[in-house]
Amino acid sequence: MSEITAVYPGTFDPVTNGHLDIIHRGARLFSRVVVAILQNPAKDPLFSLAERTTMVANATSDLGNVRVDAFEGLLVDYARGQNARVIVRGLRAVSDFEFEMQMAMMNRRMNGEVETVFMMPSESYSYVSSRLVREVVMLGGSVEGIVPEAVARALATKYGKRA
Ligand code: PNS
Repeated sequence: MSEITAVYPGTFDPVTNGHLDIIHRGARLFSRVVVAILQNPAKDPLFSLAERTTMVANATSDLGNVRVDAFEGLLVDYARGQNARVIVRGLRAVSDFEFEMQMAMMNRRMNGEVETVFMMPSESYSYVSSRLVREVVMLGGSVEGIVPEAVARALATKYGKRA
């Protein structure tokens, strides 16, 4: 099979073990995976772009064919610039499907050369989202086992809690 570069885009605010599960699966399937972190101040992320990039880079440093990058503007334009033929998105549950399908179809309309590939994370992460992880830590709960330890510490620091 020919060499295929895949882009795995997202906000990653912060990266979770669900994201990392998808990255590992993608790295086994494709020649290269570019984890593309959306630089969108309008979304008012908890973590800065630099913090999000460092957290993903540290958590994927064992994967030789994975690179972390930032992007802004249209994802399909970014994918074209990376010579990527695939956009990877994770699907946790049926509830993800509707929005993901809309995005995939819109992206296909704009660039028919790039194919969206959906991957399912391990069922143990099927309920994990960055939003819930932030909320749990903010309210004093534990996110042990669903984010990397360094991310749990960074969250605790942000919210002034003990990790
Ligand atoms: O982690 P998220 O927040 O679910 O990721 C959403 C993301 C970054 C994939 C999406 O917002 C995106 O692609 N933004 C870039 C702008 C763009 O291309 N918009 C048109 C999408 S059809």
